[in-house]
Amino acid sequence: MATLKEQIAQWNSATLWRADAPTGTGASPVAPVAASAAPSVAAPAISAVTSVAQHDLAASKAASVARESIDRDGYFEMKTMLHQKLLQRIDLTAVETMSGDRLQSRLRELAHQLIEEEQLPVNQQEHDQIIDDLQHEILGLGPLEPLLADPTISEIMVNGSKNVFVERRGQIVRTDVRFNDDAHLMKIIDKIVSRVGRRIDEASPMADARLPDGSRVNAIIPPLALDGPTLCIRRFAVVPLQMADLMAKGALTRDMANLLAGMVKAKANIIVSGGTGSGKTTLLNILSSYIPENERIVTIEDTAELQLQQDHVVRLETRPPNIEEKGGISMRALVKNSLRMRPDRIVVGEVRGGEVIDMLQAMNTGHKGSLTTIHANTPQDALGRIENLVSLSGMNLPIKALRQQVVAAINIIVQVNRLSDGTRKIIKINEITGMEGDIITTQDIFIFEVEGTSADGKVIGKFKPTGVRPAFADQLQKAGIVLDQNMFDPDRASASGPN
Ligand SMILES: Nc1ncnc2c1ncn2[C@@H]1O[C@H](COP(=O)(O)OP(=O)(O)OP(=O)(O)O)[C@@H](O)[C@H]1O
Ligand SMILES: [Mg+2]
Repeated sequence: MATLKEQIAQWNSATLWRADAPTGTGASPVAPVAASAAPSVAAPAISAVTSVAQHDLAASKAASVARESIDRDGYFEMKTMLHQKLLQRIDLTAVETMSGDRLQSRLRELAHQLIEEEQLPVNQQEHDQIIDDLQHEILGLGPLEPLLADPTISEIMVNGSKNVFVERRGQIVRTDVRFNDDAHLMKIIDKIVSRVGRRIDEASPMADARLPDGSRVNAIIPPLALDGPTLCIRRFAVVPLQMADLMAKGALTRDMANLLAGMVKAKANIIVSGGTGSGKTTLLNILSSYIPENERIVTIEDTAELQLQQDHVVRLETRPPNIEEKGGISMRALVKNSLRMRPDRIVVGEVRGGEVIDMLQAMNTGHKGSLTTIHANTPQDALGRIENLVSLSGMNLPIKALRQQVVAAINIIVQVNRLSDGTRKIIKINEITGMEGDIITTQDIFIFEVEGTSADGKVIGKFKPTGVRPAFADQLQKAGIVLDQNMFDPDRASASGPN
């Protein structure tokens, strides 16, 4: 592992940087796609010094004369020059011994000194902005830092150096954030990936990683990504969402929450099914929180995202193969291994390969109450996908036998969806009840029924119990879980708003 000193030297040695959209003016760096084309008051003040001068003629007349020649490019050149000089001036040996706070303030001091020495024609706001940007570049992830600091952003998507999108409150919007060029973006990607001991280069152009705050990162670069280095960062709330948050957001009703919590406590095997970014991992994390403290939990993930609060948790993470395609440890190997670790519960981040058969077997053999997610759009699709994954794993089970395994293993499929208005909801709690002939039979316990869309695009609908009492209810009772007997009454529909 490189020392901090080496890392800073390495991170900052190659390409110089510039960010087309300095931020931190107090306004958000994010502008909706439609608004970004038009001149916007929210646009960062120093992204075009001339426009600042136009808007604020009286106040900055003198300064604007001095700065007339500094256009957008000039501004970036100025910062690039400062960055270089700053790096020359940092005493990398002293950096080693400094605390994070001390290092930050030392950088600020040095940057301030440099701006003074160079007599740069900047106003106070620009001065502060340059210092922030320099600090982000040297200690953090450059232009991504303001986005990472914004708690309302749930996803950051970088498609090459000039196209940065974010998801905020369920909606995808384009930002003004830019990287200098692809090399600059590559440097940031490299910084992220090397922090977790992984590598990305032309020979191995894909990597998963995570940020220190737990956010999940995927990077894919040319030649696989045709339009430049591409980065996706799935932000995780520093304080993960809880069931109460989901209810407050109208993702499910209290009755549904109580049922799911009870199911977890009573050791139902549960699969959370949903599309990309629909909230599967979030719900898995929340469901896992209902596993009692006295049980031993093993979690298995491709990229560790779960944040379990219990004490007795063993966390496992797969390892991608190295450049010679060696040394990889698959999800399947970890699931198999976990069975020898005396787990009470196995929580698998997502089944997407041969591990599904091991997971089914585990669920059937003494590891009741195991939880996982699967990528599918309906509970029926989830079942189909499980069958596909099993057959892809090379397991040659007759279909009926396989389905019997599935029926014996899985109690509930919880379907999550990201709706057209960006909200995420549990749209079905579906129970697997048995088989009729070769066919698996299921029944919905709760559904979300869409009634329409409001003028402003909001989805209107209701959560409804279907009136069916789950077959699992007896097991709930045996486990001492008391649920409101009326909760399955179909007249108890609740609107989709916060409850
Ligand atoms: N009910 C919800 N309401 C609002 N935001 C949510 C909800 N559930 C999840 N989120 C947010 O949505 C984003 C995606 O959630 P999550 O990572 O759980 O999805 P996922 O289905 O596991 O995605 P992937 O398919 O990429 O693994 C996260 O930022 C999460 O905080
Ligand atoms: Mg996920």
